[in-house]
Parts: sequence; C-alpha cells; structure tokens
Amino acid sequence: MRLFIFTVLLVVATAIEFKVKKDGKVCALLTLNGALDLEATQQETLISKSELKFEKATLIESSTCNLIKLNLTSSAEMWFQFDAAQKDWKVTPVSLFVPESVFGKDVNETDPVTLKASSLELFPQDGYYKCNSASEFSFVPETETVEFNYTVKAKVSDFQIQSADGDDFKTKGKVCAADKKPSEYMCKNGNKTIIMMEGNFTLAITYLNVTGANVTENIIVPAPEDADTEGVCDEKATTESLSIGFFKTWAIHFDFKKKDSNFFISNMSVTYTFDDNLPHHAANGSRTVELPISTEYLKASTKGYYICNSELDKSNEGVTLTSKNFKYRAFDEKSAGFDGDVSECSADESSSSVVPIAVGAALAGLVVIVLVAYLIGRKRSRKTGYESV
Ligand SMILES: *[C@@H]1O[C@H](CO)[C@@H](O)[C@H](O)[C@H]1NC(C)=O
Ligand SMILES: *[C@@H]1O[C@H](CO)[C@@H](O)[C@H](O)[C@H]1NC(C)=O
Ligand SMILES: *[C@@H]1O[C@H](CO)[C@@H](O)[C@H](O)[C@H]1NC(C)=O
Ligand SMILES: *[C@@H]1O[C@H](CO)[C@@H](O)[C@H](O)[C@H]1NC(C)=O
Ligand SMILES: *[C@@H]1O[C@H](CO)[C@@H](O)[C@H](O)[C@H]1NC(C)=O
Ligand SMILES: *[C@@H]1O[C@H](CO)[C@@H](O)[C@H](O)[C@H]1NC(C)=O
Ligand SMILES: *[C@@H]1O[C@H](CO)[C@@H](O)[C@H](O)[C@H]1NC(C)=O
Ligand SMILES: *[C@@H]1O[C@H](CO)[C@@H](O)[C@H](O)[C@H]1NC(C)=O
Ligand SMILES: *[C@@H]1O[C@H](CO)[C@@H](O)[C@H](O)[C@H]1NC(C)=O
Repeated sequence: MRLFIFTVLLVVATAIEFKVKKDGKVCALLTLNGALDLEATQQETLISKSELKFEKATLIESSTCNLIKLNLTSSAEMWFQFDAAQKDWKVTPVSLFVPESVFGKDVNETDPVTLKASSLELFPQDGYYKCNSASEFSFVPETETVEFNYTVKAKVSDFQIQSADGDDFKTKGKVCAADKKPSEYMCKNGNKTIIMMEGNFTLAITYLNVTGANVTENIIVPAPEDADTEGVCDEKATTESLSIGFFKTWAIHFDFKKKDSNFFISNMSVTYTFDDNLPHHAANGSRTVELPISTEYLKASTKGYYICNSELDKSNEGVTLTSKNFKYRAFDEKSAGFDGDVSECSADESSSSVVPIAVGAALAGLVVIVLVAYLIGRKRSRKTGYESV
C-alpha cells in the first residue's frame, strides 16, 4: 500500500516532456505540469467548467520547431508559438477549443474559439526559459464571444521550454523571477516578507582536536542564496524567529519579540556539528550554544529597521558569532523592507560623527585664522596712523 502511494506521488510530481523532431533531430523541447482550467459563463452565471490535465496531453504531429502544439482532448489544444525578437524568442501561449465538445450540450457553440495569453519574458534563442514555481497563463479570446464568456487559465509548474537543436535543455537561459534565489535571509508569509536580514556572518569555534589541543576554526556563514533559511512569522504574532541553516546541520537561530512600537532580538543561538568543517575534532555529535545578549538587544522601531555596519560579536562556550554590514527588520507586516526609521548601533554612530567633527574643527580653525588676521591688520593700520571708519 505504502509503495503504491509513493508511486502515485512520484508520477504526479514528474513533469511531462514533449520533443519536436525535424529530420529525425530534436529541435524544440517542452516540459510542464498542471492543467488548463476552462469556465463558461453567461451573465456572470457559471454554466459549466472543465479541467484538462497536461499529463494526458499528447504532441500534435503538425508541430514545428517554432510551434509546439499539445492535444488536450479531441477538441482542445494549447500551443506555444515562437516569434523571433532580434536574438531572443518571444513565446506566446495560445489555446483553442470547441465549446460544445469541452463543456457539453449546455454550451452549444460548435465554432472553435482561439485565445491568447501574454507572452513569456523574452529569452535567448540558443537557451531555455524556465519556471519551476507555480505560475498562471490567462487566456483572452482573439475575437469577442457572443453567447457565452469563457475564462481560460493554465496553471503551470515545472515549466521549461526551448526551440534550439539538441536532445536536452541547454545549460543557459532565462529563469523566471519567482525561481530566483533570495539575496537576503528572510521569512515570508504568503507574498509578504515579514523578516528580512542581511549581513556577513562568521563563526569562530574553539574545540579540542584529536591530539588534545584546543584549536579555533573560522567559518564563513554562506550567503542567503546558498543557505537554507527558515522562519516563523505569522501575522499579528508578538514573537517571531529566523534560522539560517547551512552545512546541512548547522544553524544560527534568532528569536524576535515585539513590545509597544519596537522590536528586538530576544534570543540568539548557534548550532554546530563536529563534522568535516572542524578538522580532526575529538568529540562527535551536535551542540547548541546560546549567546548571552542584553535585554531588548538591537532594538528598532517597527516603523523602520536596525543597522550596524561595524563589527558586532557575541561569544559563549568557545563559540563567537561576528557580523558585519548587519541589517534586519522583523514584524514587517506591510513588507516595507529596508525603508523608514533607522536605528543605528553606537559604533556606527561614532564613526559617522567623524565627518561632522572634522568639518566643525576646520570651521573653528578658519574663525581663529580670520580673527588673527584681523587683529594683525588692525595693529599695522594703527602703526601707519591710518584710521579706519
Ligand atoms: C461577458 O462579459 C462582459 C464583461 O464582463 C459582459 O458585459 C457580458 O454581458 C458578458 N456576456 C455574457 C454572454 O455573459
Ligand atoms: C487529439 O487526440 C484525440 C484522442 O484523444 C484524437 O481523437 C484527435 O484526433 C487528436 N487531435 C489532433 C489534432 O491530433
Ligand atoms: C443554443 O441553445 C439555445 C437554447 O437552449 C438556442 O436558443 C440557441 O439558438 C442555440 N444556439 C446554437 C448556436 O445552436
Ligand atoms: C499579495 O497577495 C494579495 C492577495 O493574496 C494581493 O492582493 C496583493 O496585491 C499581493 N501583493 C503583492 C505585492 O504581490
Ligand atoms: C556580505 O553580504 C552582502 C549582502 O548579503 C553580500 O552581497 C556580500 O557578497 C557579502 N560579502 C562577503 C565577503 O561575504
Ligand atoms: C591539534 O592542534 C595542535 C595545536 O594547534 C596541532 O599542533 C596538532 O597538529 C593538531 N592535531 C591534528 C591531528 O590536527
Ligand atoms: C581547552 O579549552 C577549554 C575551555 O576554554 C579548557 O577548559 C580546557 O582546559 C582547554 N584544554 C587545553 C588542553 O588547553
Ligand atoms: C534560546 O534559544 C535556545 C535554542 O533555540 C533555547 O534552547 C533557549 O531555551 C532559548 N532561551 C530563551 C531565554 O528563550
Ligand atoms: C566519533 O565518530 C567516529 C566515527 O564515527 C568514531 O571513530 C569515534 O570513535 C567517535 N568518537 C567519539 C569520542 O565518540
């Protein structure tokens, strides 16, 4: 039974692949998952609807290298039309169907309807376009329909398309925005980014090596795109958390609290494992070390964010966490990001006050010089007996 469920899941999760051949050679490729959803309405009343899964689709023989045609049922098709736009492809999804065959007798239109969706982002002709994340193509009729209105949407995932010679997808191409790797450590709730953190973190870990000596290893915490960041950031909560995961089992964990109109870090810990990152380690297993922090550590207003470009560090039990160019914001229910009131660490404030102090000192110097020059000038004019008014 368990094996059966596993097999079914595997089938569902695998995208279907289509290959168009010309003279026996593959010249266009398409993989996708999902379904085409069709609805027929009359004066906003739903008359009938239908879902056509892509896993049942077949490639229509008249497809060309620049027009991939899928047969969804005997009377519904979805096409991908390639038009050259200088060195790029502009791909337009097209859908065609005969209403009566798709919806049944209640929708008695027998003339085929053609609909088009907005084109995909342009991508190089010698590359692919790829979007693993779920996306939607919304199709709009080419000509206005009379008796019925049709809403046609393709819900697509694991999508990849190409029109270029070769059995496989090329090694380069365009990736949709939703698939791009994050450039910040973050926690999202729906489409809102509630916690955002930036910074260059390093860990210094002192441990006993097999020769019985204490050694210190410096570890650079991977950038957001190479880390596995997870968080808890429910809407309206007063505690949130963020874990920057890396090296499979290592993590830096932050808890945040909100009090009045401020937020701050309430707990900070480091989890590490005696693995290849700590060469010749004597002990085995994982350890979690809580770092001692002051109450309301790195506090900022909920109207803004906290910043500390200078180095910050905290140590405990042979573990030191250091940050540089650190910035964070939590409880950001409006997804404002790094915008608004800035709370700065004192180290940054004293370095940023160097410029005003220098300017002030220069001005004071200038006043003294002018004063001295004036006094000397006055003395000289007295000597010559020349009296000014
Ligand atoms: C189709 O939709 C338009 C705009 O929403 C509406 O004005 C029109 O009455 C609808 N036609 C039918 C047949 O439902
Ligand atoms: C689509 O497939 C159906 C069978 O499922 C077949 O009857 C029909 O002829 C096909 N249409 C095209 C255009 O290949
Ligand atoms: C569709 O059916 C309606 C009644 O159910 C009828 O009035 C109409 O003329 C039919 N339209 C077509 C194109 O057959
Ligand atoms: C986020 O999703 C909501 C509905 O789910 C939508 O109204 C809103 O426009 C979306 N915001 C962004 C920035 O995409
Ligand atoms: C420091 O962090 C920034 C922002 O996350 C990143 O762009 C930069 O590459 C990092 N620098 C180093 C040396 O890791
Ligand atoms: C353990 O650390 C000591 C002191 O740094 C060093 O001399 C020794 O070679 C290390 N042993 C191993 C096996 O790395
Ligand atoms: C290694 O460091 C720990 C903690 O600082 C200390 O207790 C221990 O005595 C040290 N061992 C050696 C061999 O220096
Ligand atoms: C801080 O976090 C660590 C690890 O998540 C946990 O073990 C510890 O109890 C927490 N301390 C406080 C004061 O919440
Ligand atoms: C740690 O694990 C290694 C390999 O699994 C083993 O050889 C070694 O004896 C273990 N050391 C300790 C202190 O448990």
